[in-house]
Order: sequence, then C-alpha cells, then structure tokens
Amino acid sequence: MQNTSVLMSSPEYFRIEYSINPWMIEGVEINLELAKDQWGGLKSTIEKCGAEVNVIPGNTVYPDLVFTANSGIIKDKSVLISNFKYQERQGEEVIYENWFRKNGYDVARIPSEHKFEGRGDAFVYGEYLIGSYGIRSDKEALLFIADHFQLIPKIAKLVDEKFYHLDTCFQQLPTKNNDAIFYPPAFEDQSLSEFSDLFNLIPIHEDDANQLACNAVVINESVIFPSENIEIIETVAQLGCNIEISNVSEFMKSGGACQCLVITLQ
Ligand code: ARG
Repeated sequence: MQNTSVLMSSPEYFRIEYSINPWMIEGVEINLELAKDQWGGLKSTIEKCGAEVNVIPGNTVYPDLVFTANSGIIKDKSVLISNFKYQERQGEEVIYENWFRKNGYDVARIPSEHKFEGRGDAFVYGEYLIGSYGIRSDKEALLFIADHFQLIPKIAKLVDEKFYHLDTCFQQLPTKNNDAIFYPPAFEDQSLSEFSDLFNLIPIHEDDANQLACNAVVINESVIFPSENIEIIETVAQLGCNIEISNVSEFMKSGGACQCLVITLQ
C-alpha cells in the first residue's frame, strides 16, 4: 500500500549558473541528459519503495528549484514556506507557495528577516522540531517554526560551509532503535548532544560525508543512497534497512544529492 507521498521538481532547467556553496563551481557544465536520467532513476526508485511522487514543473529562471527539499517545512496539511538566504533562489518561494496553496495546504510565512531553507535544515519528528542553523537558516526562524507548529525545538549549530544544510550531514534511519547517521565535524558540538536523547547517533567518516552519504532518502524501510561506494551502507543494511542506490552525480556538482531533490508530503 502506498502511504507515503513526496514532491519533486522536474530537472529540465537544472544548471550551475552561480555559486552559493563550495560544491558549486561556476562554469562547470552539467550533462543535462544524464541529469534528467539520474532524476528519473531516483523518482522510479522512490516509487519502487512504495511512495507516490508528485511533480512540480521546473522554471527556466531558477536552476536550483530542482532541490525541492528547500521549499519549506510541512506539518500535516500546513506548510511554512522557506525564506532563502541568497537572492538567486528567493524567486522560488512564490512558486512553491502557489503549488502548496493549489494543493490544499494551509500556507503561512516566517517573518522575512529570518532565513530558513526548509527540509534542508529542519523536519518534524513527533512532538519535536529537529533543525540546524548557522549557515543557511537562522536560529530565530527555527524558534518561530517550533512555536507556530507547537513543537519542542531540538536544534544544533552547523559550522562547516561544505555541509551547509542539516540534510547534508544528518539522516534519521527507519529503524526501531531510532538510529541516525551524522558527520560530527559539521556540527559545533561534535557529539551532537542536543539530539542524543532522541536518536542513537552513528558517526560517519569524511569520505562518506564527501559523497553526501547523509543525503539519503528514506521511504518506508528503504534508504536510498547516492552512491554504492559508501562505507556506512553496510552498517545501515545490518540494522535491517533495505538499501537502494540512486546515482545523482550531476546534482552533486550543485551540492545536492538524493534527499535535496525530495520533500515528504505525508
Ligand atoms: N545548489 C543548491 C543550493 O546551494 C543545493 C541545495 C541542496 N539542498 C539541500 N536540501 N541540501 O542552494
């Protein structure tokens, strides 16, 4: 039975036009045909794992719109739309706002002085808001969201520009033990003590972090990793998760892997 539903944004206008994170090198060419195949491969893998994929059309002006994770934060049928840090992405806000409105969501905004980049930096976990700040998102935005959705904030500070969103250095796994993988040097508090009463924290090595191992998509019991050459995969498999691989190398040139391309709707 399909009880999971996600949103992705189609990739036909994806390119590197500016650099707003250390992965993005201006002038680097994207093989668009390959990117479209990789995006299609991720979409099929997500469907195979039992989720329905909704698709928002791409937009020629916004190459990073494809990173749908950054659209906002969703709780049930309510969404708070992101306030992108960089002007290059700010035009995406109204595109997402319109999509959510059209699809029956109660849409609200965070005060514009507080920057926030959606599932990139936060997600709802039971009665908690799990979030990070310090590079793209502001602490004030997370506190606003927690208050708005009546959640307990559990937030950590990011300190490495290469791991600029929470979803680049932390991922919760679909295990009974509440396991989660994380890259300690990405956090100011490398022991991530703020999250340690909620998750069984499993550190990953630098090589895995550089392949964006934490940017895996979780669908039901499956974990979709962006490469098969990731050491932590063996541990995750031993924990009982079904492992899938979806190579998204073209998107990694922009600093995003599997999770960045997806937001869970329910
Ligand atoms: N090029 C995009 C940016 O820098 C990548 C976003 C990746 N998204 C994510 N959820 N980590 O904004």
